[in-house]
Amino acid sequence: MVNLLPAQLVLSASSLFVNAPSDSISSVSLERWKELHRQVGGRLYLGAPFASPCFANASLGVSDPACSVVQHGYVDELTRSNAFGAFINTQWETCQATGAQCLLDYTNPSNLEHVLQTKCELGSVSNYYIDVRDPEDVRAAFNFSKSTNATLVIKNTGHDYMGRSSAPNSISLWTHNLKNMSYIPTFVPEGCTDVSPAVTVGAGVQWGEAYAFAESQNITLVGGVCVIYLKGGGHSILSNTMGLGVDRVLQFKIVTPDGHYRTVNKCQHRDLFFALRGGGGGTFGVVLESTILASPQVTLQVVVVSFSLNPVLTERLWTILVDNGIKWANDGWGGLANSRTAIYITPTLSKDDAASSMTPLIQFGQELVDTQVEGAQLRVIAFPSFGTFFNFLVNSEVAAVGSSLALASRLIPRNLFANSISRSTLVSALTAANKMSPSLIILITPPSSFPGDGMTSVTDAWRTSIFHITVVNQWNWNATKADKKRQYTLASSAIDQLRKITPDAAYVNEADVYEPNHEMSFWGKHYARLLRIKRKYDPEHLLDCWHCVGSNPKSSRFACYL
Ligand SMILES: Cc1cc2nc3c(=O)[nH]c(=O)nc-3n(C[C@H](O)[C@H](O)[C@H](O)COP(=O)(O)OP(=O)(O)OC[C@H]3O[C@@H](n4cnc5c(N)ncnc54)[C@H](O)[C@@H]3O)c2cc1C
Ligand SMILES: *[C@@H]1O[C@H](CO)[C@@H](O)[C@H](O)[C@H]1NC(C)=O
Ligand SMILES: *[C@@H]1O[C@H](CO)[C@@H](O)[C@H](O)[C@H]1NC(C)=O
Ligand SMILES: *[C@@H]1O[C@H](CO)[C@@H](O)[C@H](O)[C@H]1NC(C)=O
Ligand SMILES: *[C@@H]1O[C@H](CO)[C@@H](O)[C@H](O)[C@H]1NC(C)=O
Ligand SMILES: *[C@@H]1O[C@H](CO)[C@@H](O)[C@H](O)[C@H]1NC(C)=O
Ligand SMILES: *[C@@H]1O[C@H](CO)[C@@H](O)[C@H](O)[C@H]1NC(C)=O
Repeated sequence: MVNLLPAQLVLSASSLFVNAPSDSISSVSLERWKELHRQVGGRLYLGAPFASPCFANASLGVSDPACSVVQHGYVDELTRSNAFGAFINTQWETCQATGAQCLLDYTNPSNLEHVLQTKCELGSVSNYYIDVRDPEDVRAAFNFSKSTNATLVIKNTGHDYMGRSSAPNSISLWTHNLKNMSYIPTFVPEGCTDVSPAVTVGAGVQWGEAYAFAESQNITLVGGVCVIYLKGGGHSILSNTMGLGVDRVLQFKIVTPDGHYRTVNKCQHRDLFFALRGGGGGTFGVVLESTILASPQVTLQVVVVSFSLNPVLTERLWTILVDNGIKWANDGWGGLANSRTAIYITPTLSKDDAASSMTPLIQFGQELVDTQVEGAQLRVIAFPSFGTFFNFLVNSEVAAVGSSLALASRLIPRNLFANSISRSTLVSALTAANKMSPSLIILITPPSSFPGDGMTSVTDAWRTSIFHITVVNQWNWNATKADKKRQYTLASSAIDQLRKITPDAAYVNEADVYEPNHEMSFWGKHYARLLRIKRKYDPEHLLDCWHCVGSNPKSSRFACYL
C-alpha cells in the first residue's frame, strides 16, 4: 500500500482509471479529501484492481515483479482476501454491464498473451478505500458520505457471492486488518449479568485463524470454511447441534450511520442485536468486533464415502442421504455431499452409536470398496477436536476462487423427507438440478436440532430444513455479456427444480443474485421488523447493498449488475 498525499490521490485516480465523469466522487473538493485523509490518520488509499500490475508496463514490453505475485496467488483464497482490489469471485471486480475489467485467465494466469491486449479498467473496485482501524475512521467516512453524497461500501474479505462489497465510483471501508482475537473464559455482555466463555474477534479475523486460536485454547468455535460469516447466518457442519454463527454471537461493537459507536447485545440495543444476527452485512453499520460463544473441545465421529463420478452411484448415494435425512438430523449429524462424496460428522455420538446410526452409508461405502468400484473409499474416523478435522477437510474440499460464477441455492424443509413419495420427488429434483449444474453441493448444515433463542432474524425456515443446496456455474475472463447472462440463467433454472417443490427460503449470503421474492426467502416473517430497524439507524440511507434490507434497486451503486 502506497501512502499517497491527498493531491496525488485525486490526480492518480483520474489518470489511471477513468470512471463516469459526473459522479459524486470526482466532484469532491481537494480540501475535503485532505480533511478525510487527516481524519482517518492518513489511511486513505487508492483502489486498484488486483491484476493491475500485470497491465501497468505492458505497452513497454516490461514485466513488473508484482505481476508474478498476482499470477501465483490468482486462485488462492488468502492472497485474494489480503488484497483490497481482489474479490473471491472476480465478476465483482468488473463492471459486468459495461465490460470494464482487469482480469487474467483464471485457468492459466501465467498466460498473458490475449489478456494484455485488453485495457485494465477499475470496474467495480472502489476508487478509494480506508484501511479501518478504529471507530473514528468509520465516523469520518459516514460524515464524508453525508456531506458529499459519495457512495460508501464496506469490504471485509470480498467473499460475497452477490457483489455486496464492491461498487463503481465508491469509497470503501476495508475492515480486513481488524485482526484482534482474545479468549475470555468468563465473558459478561455489557449491561448483562450472565457469564459464558467467549472469544472476541476483530471483524477481519478469518476462520483459519480463529480455528487455530481455538485449538490453542482447547475450545470449539462454530463457523464456516474461511470467513467469520456472522451477520447473515453462518452455517457450518456443526450447526445442526451447535447452531448457526448468528446463534452464537453474544455481542457486537458497531458504528451505526448516525456516527455512534455502540455495544450491542441482548441487554442493550436489542433491536440491533436481532438485526445483526441474520439481517445481513453492509446494512445496519460497520461492525468492528464480535464476541462469540466458545464451547469445550468436542470429539468428532466422521464418516467419508467417495467414488469416481458415476451417475448411477450418485443417485444411490443421494437416495440414502434423503431416506435417512430425518434420522441423521435427529441423531446430530451434519455434513456435505456432492455427486461423488459424502462427509458426515457428529459431536454428540460415541464411536459405536455413530457407526450404528450411519450403518446405511457405511454399508454402501463398504460395498463400493468390496466390488472395487473405481475410486471407492470408505473412512470411519474420529477426530479429537474441530481444528484437527478442519485441517483434514480443507485439503479435500475447495470452493471456486479467482473465477467468475453464478450461484443459486435453496433450503430443503424437513417435511420433504417425511414419506417415500416426497423423498423420491426430492431425489428426482436434485438429479434434474445436477444435470443443469454439475457442481451441485448438498450442505447438511441447517440448525435442524437447534431451536435458537428467538433473537435471530434469519428466516425461520433454517430451523425446519435439513439440506441447504447450492449450485454454481462459472465463466472465464473473456466471456461475453450474453455468456454471463446465460450462466446466471442456468444456475437459476437448476435451482428452479427445487423451487418448484419447496417454500421460498434461501441463505442471504449464498443466494441467486436474481432470487425471486428475496425478502421472504432470506428473512421470512422478520422482514418488516428488520426494515423498521434499518430506517431507525440509517435514516439517510448511507448504506445499501444488493437484495439487502431496505435496498433501493434504482441506486447507481448497482449500475454494474446485469
Ligand atoms: C469460498 C467461499 C466459502 C464460503 N463458505 C461459507 C460457509 O462455510 N458458511 C457460510 O455461512 N457462508 C459461506 N460463504 C458465504 C459467506 O458467508 C459470505 O460470502 C459472506 O458475506 C462473507 O463475509 P465477508 O464479510 O468476509 O465478505 P465481504 O464480501 O467482504 O462482505 C460481505 C457483506 O458484508 C458486508 N460487510 C463486510 N464487512 C463488514 C463489517 N465489518 N461490518 C458490516 N458489514 C460488513 C459487506 O458490505 C457485504 O455486504 C462462503 C463464501 C465463499 C466465497
Ligand atoms: C512499471 O511502471 C511503474 C509506474 O508506471 C513504475 O513505477 C515501475 O517501476 C515499472 N516497473 C517496471 C518493472 O518497469
Ligand atoms: C479467451 O481467452 C483465451 C485465453 O485466455 C483464448 O484461448 C480464447 O480463444 C478466448 N476466447 C475468446 C472467445 O476470445
Ligand atoms: C463532519 O464533516 C463536516 C464537514 O466537513 C465537519 O465540519 C465536521 O466537523 C465533521 N463532523 C465529524 C463528527 O467528524
Ligand atoms: C446530495 O444529494 C442530495 C439529494 O439528492 C442533494 O440535495 C444534495 O445537493 C447533494 N449534495 C452534494 C454535495 O452533491
Ligand atoms: C487490539 O489489541 C490491541 C492490543 O491489545 C489494542 O491496543 C487495540 O486497541 C485493539 N484494537 C481494536 C480495534 O480493538
Ligand atoms: C490444552 O490441553 C492440552 C492437553 O490437555 C494441555 O497440555 C494444554 O496446556 C491446554 N492448553 C490450554 C491453553 O489450556
